[in-house]
Parts: sequence; C-alpha cells; structure tokens
Amino acid sequence: MRVVVLSNSPASPVVLPLESETASASGERWESEAISDRAVEGVAWSVANALLESGHDVVMLQAGNRPEDVIAGLRDAAPDAVFNLCETIGGDSRLEAAVPYLLSWLDIPFTGNPPGALAMLVDKVTTKALFASLGVRTPECLTLGCVSDLDEWNIWPAILKPAAEDASLGIDAGSVVRNAETARSRFELLAARFGIPVLIERFITGREVNVAVLETENGLKTGINEIDFSTLPSELPPIVTYEAKWVENSNYYKSTPVKSPANLQHAVDRIVRDTALSIFSALDLSGYARIDFRIDNENLTWVLEVNPNPDLSDDAGFARSLPEMGLGYREAVDGLVRVAIARHRRRKK
Ligand SMILES: Nc1ncnc2c1ncn2[C@@H]1O[C@H](COP(=O)(O)OP(=O)(O)O)[C@@H](O)[C@H]1O
Ligand SMILES: [Mg+2]
Repeated sequence: MRVVVLSNSPASPVVLPLESETASASGERWESEAISDRAVEGVAWSVANALLESGHDVVMLQAGNRPEDVIAGLRDAAPDAVFNLCETIGGDSRLEAAVPYLLSWLDIPFTGNPPGALAMLVDKVTTKALFASLGVRTPECLTLGCVSDLDEWNIWPAILKPAAEDASLGIDAGSVVRNAETARSRFELLAARFGIPVLIERFITGREVNVAVLETENGLKTGINEIDFSTLPSELPPIVTYEAKWVENSNYYKSTPVKSPANLQHAVDRIVRDTALSIFSALDLSGYARIDFRIDNENLTWVLEVNPNPDLSDDAGFARSLPEMGLGYREAVDGLVRVAIARHRRRKK
C-alpha cells in the first residue's frame, strides 16, 4: 500500500519575556515550547520506518500554512491512506481538526480520530461538559473569562490551565495554587500568554496514570502507565509540566519517569481501564487515544482529560504500553493503517 505520512511543519520558536513573578519563580518561561511541535518530525520518521518495515510505500508530507500545498502533495502521491500526525497548523492547536476534515473531503482514508472528536476535545471546557454528560468523575472546575470570575471559586489547592492547549503548554511549577491571590496572578499570566478562557480545577492529590487505548483488527486493547513522582523534590508540585514532558535536562523531566505497566490494585485497574474504554466508545473515537487519570488517596479515580491521537514516539508514552497489549511498534502502526482503511470502507457502504 502507499501511505502518506502527514505531519505538521514545526511552528517557529516563540520567545517571551518574563511576565510575572510566578513565571520566574517556577523557573520556566515557555520559551522552549516549540520543542513539542518539533517532536512530531521525529515521530513521523519512526512511523515511516515502521511502515517501510511492513512493506508499504511511504511518502512524507508536511502541512504548513498553505492548504493548497497539502492538497497538491496528496494529489501527487495518490495514497491508499494517510497516517495523520498533524497536531497543530502553524502552531495553532485549534486547527488540528482541519487536516482530517480536509482528508474526509478528499475522500482519503486516514489514521486516528475523526475531525469532530479532535475539534471537541481540543477544548477543555467542552471536554469537561462531555465528562459530566457521561457521568464520569472529573475534578470540579470553573471557566474563567476575567479575573473577577475567581470570586466564585473557593476550592483549594487548585490548578489553572489554558482552555485550549495540550502537551502541558502553560503547565509549570506555578500552576498549582493555594489561595485566591496566587490564582489571580496565575490567571493574568495565562490569559496574557494563551488567551481566555482559562480553566481552574480542583487539584487532585495522588497518583497519575495514563490509559492507552488502541483500536486493532481484533478489538480495542488497553495498557496503563504511571507517572512516578517519588523522586521529585518536595518543593515541586507532583504534576506533569511542560518540562516534564519535553525538556530532557530539567529536574521535572528527570524526576517524573514513567512506570510501565502501572502496578495498580486489581479493582482500581479495572475501573480506569473500563472508564477509558467507555469514554473511547461513547465519544466515538477511533485509532488511538490516551486517557489521563488521577487516583486520590481514597482510591477514587478522576478523569483529567482525553488525548485523541496522542504522541506516537517509539520510545515514550503510548508506545510504552504496547508490550502490555502484546504488540510491537511496527505491528501497531501497520494496524492503525488497516483499521483506518476498514473504517473508510464501512462508511462508504
Ligand atoms: N485537576 C488536577 N489535579 C491534579 N493534577 C492535575 C489536574 N489537572 C492537571 N493536572 C496535572 O497537569 C498535567 C497537565 O494537565 P492536562 O489537563 O492533562 O493538560 P495537557 O492537555 O496540557 O496535558 C496533568 O498530567 C497533571 O499532572
Ligand atoms: Mg494531559
């Protein structure tokens, strides 16, 4: 088969001045945020190699600011399927869904999640409303459009985050706040940098696990990773910050190793797996997704978010759950193309 591996062109690095004491106290300035965007290039090569090993013809294509170039590239390649790795367009996460919308329009099968799901889930406010409608336990939250909205909030500690970013953009040691004053200055910082709305959420103290869900020709498979915060210096809040995900020489990165598979009590293991599977089905997701949970000290499970089309690096996150599913990277990548083509055929009927 001929497969186009489509990834986004990396956005140019954004360098920001320090805007508040919160940012300097946390030691981060998000000036390195283009790292997560650039990581997609590495993933594209890993996926391409896996596809070549499976005997496919592979064409690499990047989606930048000009849709007409993508259309021309796809017309030239005339692929049987597209492996869609686009996470942003020109650095804008809200345009992630534009790529699978375009592929649907061009009637080309593509891997991973449908555009509607991507468009919905990029927005954390919508996602929280979906959780509520599904009856899934998720931390209480409030959407903040201006600083005085915080007058209605009285749950501490709390965490603030941009409403429409992922990859832990905007999440650093200053994200967890214990009172209204710190919350206000954090709101100002996030609103200036990422725009409104900003989300404030009850902070769940406890363990953090990610459930990987993969659609295969033999049904859905799951695997669970745990973030091990045990070596994190006590002055740093136990959360997965931007640095923890992307900045290899940072304290956060070094002190938040991933334990795979997670070692959970049988009952808790069942609950998080079943919850992840029911969310995957209820939201009509396809291909692959990662669902993040916190488990509090009373063993209650809380869904933090759903990541459709999560990072597919061959050495991190999702891929580390593949052994638990009994699959290798090459097989999983090949399987994603096969289920994409099968889904496309079903929809045409
Ligand atoms: N309500 C919460 N309680 C505890 N930790 C949280 C909460 N919300 C977010 N976090 C921490 O922040 C990280 C990033 O938040 P998340 O909502 O997953 O944003 P992103 O989409 O950027 O990954 C999580 O992995 C977790 O460590
Ligand atoms: Mg997350």
